[in-house]
Amino acid sequence: MSITKICCIGAGYVGGPTMAVIAQKCPDIQVTVVDLNEERIAQWNNPDVEKIPIYEPGLSEIVANTRGKNLFFSTEVDKAIDEAQMIFISVNTPTKTYGSGKGMAADLKYIELCARQIARVAKNDKIVVEKSTLPVRTAEAIKSILDHTGNGVQFQILSNPEFLAEGTAVQDLLNPDRVLIGGDTTPEGEAAIQSLVNIYSNWVSKDKILTTNVWSSELSKLTANAFLAQRVSSINAISELCEKTGADVNEVARAIGMDSRIGPKFLKSSVGFGGSCFQKDILNLVYIAKTFGLREVADYWEQVILMNDHQKRRFANKIVQTLYNTVADKKICFLGWAFKKDTNDTRESAAIYVARDLVSEQANIAVFDPKVEEYQIQSDLDYLNVSERSKKRVTSYENPYDACHSAHAIAVLTEWDEFRDYDWQLIYKNMQKPAFIFDGRNLLDGKKLTEIGFVYKSIGS
Ligand code: NAD
Ligand code: UGA
Repeated sequence: MSITKICCIGAGYVGGPTMAVIAQKCPDIQVTVVDLNEERIAQWNNPDVEKIPIYEPGLSEIVANTRGKNLFFSTEVDKAIDEAQMIFISVNTPTKTYGSGKGMAADLKYIELCARQIARVAKNDKIVVEKSTLPVRTAEAIKSILDHTGNGVQFQILSNPEFLAEGTAVQDLLNPDRVLIGGDTTPEGEAAIQSLVNIYSNWVSKDKILTTNVWSSELSKLTANAFLAQRVSSINAISELCEKTGADVNEVARAIGMDSRIGPKFLKSSVGFGGSCFQKDILNLVYIAKTFGLREVADYWEQVILMNDHQKRRFANKIVQTLYNTVADKKICFLGWAFKKDTNDTRESAAIYVARDLVSEQANIAVFDPKVEEYQIQSDLDYLNVSERSKKRVTSYENPYDACHSAHAIAVLTEWDEFRDYDWQLIYKNMQKPAFIFDGRNLLDGKKLTEIGFVYKSIGS
């Protein structure tokens, strides 16, 4: 089938950037991104393209070039489903917060709603593409819903997980390491796979487009995230040992990363990984393993999460211990709140957990993040059930120098490049003495800061 109209359900961090790139690379395809969230769609349609809801380097330029030509954002979900030959499901799949599997399994209620809506609306054959990250064998459930419409419409279900990382989404989409497409091995399934291969072939070389069966594709996505997160937890585990032994985790990471079998990426020790997916996807993997009675498999992967929780807690504890075992009413400046640089996304950011631990010790926290706004910080604290009283201890600043002014300590929670270039001499002058820096990202020049007079503490040395 030659595709001329695509609908994507879910205008989030994946749906928005992915569809913008498809629209740019396939000018003959009309791409409509739909969402129930009216405010989000209004933001995507904001005439000032710098105000689209997601900050990603290079994204606003692509949206400016395609929006209104072959890229549309709309709340008319039924209409977009009806018109499209291919429908991407790109809705959120958070960890369940209720019922069986609470705290572990993926909540598939949004996926099921999409499947039911497609089943209700579709009047002609469609290809449905799972773009969201899903437990292995979800396609079976989607198919079962779609196959019971009774109106003779035929559906093909493909799995096409997304591997982009936030902060580099556009680059990752333009130059992916691979595109993975899983589908049925029937002639109809293979034809559907080919339709999607044809779309990606507009800019991705054929040798990077991998086709598999549906289950391998679904499971590969969870596995990729589990392996990536496991590397971070592994190096973070070593960071604690480094602190006890005089080894330096940056040197260790460099030394092992030069082994081509290990490789240098994802070995940056930190305050702990965050983001909407690593934790949720590993918990989901653990849950699936448990469901099949695979206790050892489940325990193995769960350890990645436990190590990460430990690393976040350890960072907060270190601040308290170093500040003479009390942070009560002391001002601690957080540089960064996002879960990594170059994104305004704060989901599961380590900063939230460290803040929670410090306000429970009655610290006052002054946050500066170049892309995160005050309301977001407060709502992140709500998510961790931080009390109203404690929340008042966390304030957000528009300017890093004001945030650091008269602070007892600075904690670097996100690796924003601009932090390196601040006037550290001036910051030092205006802080309480001794002036401490806890660099949760090993970002700053410790030697230079020590020369200025700071007490500089990094991770893993
Ligand atoms: P998101 O929360 O940013 O966006 C999801 C959107 O779907 C929301 O705007 C929500 O309103 C909308 N939605 C939910 N149900 C809907 C429905 N029935 N009809 C219409 N709209 C609906 O989520 P995200 O970060 O884009 O993630 C989406 C999926 O992609 C998840 O499964 C995630 O695991 C996966 N993923 C995310 C990333 C990432 O970097 N964020 C990367 C790869 C994969
Ligand atoms: C991650 C994966 O990298 C993507 O391939 C995947 O598509 C995505 O999850 C997803 O499924 O959502 P993302 O979470 O956006 O992408 O960002 P990463 O670059 O993977 O960083 C995740 C977290 O790990 C961040 O908090 C980051 O600071 C931390 N990290 C990463 C480290 O602490 N050290 C490292 O060496 C690398």
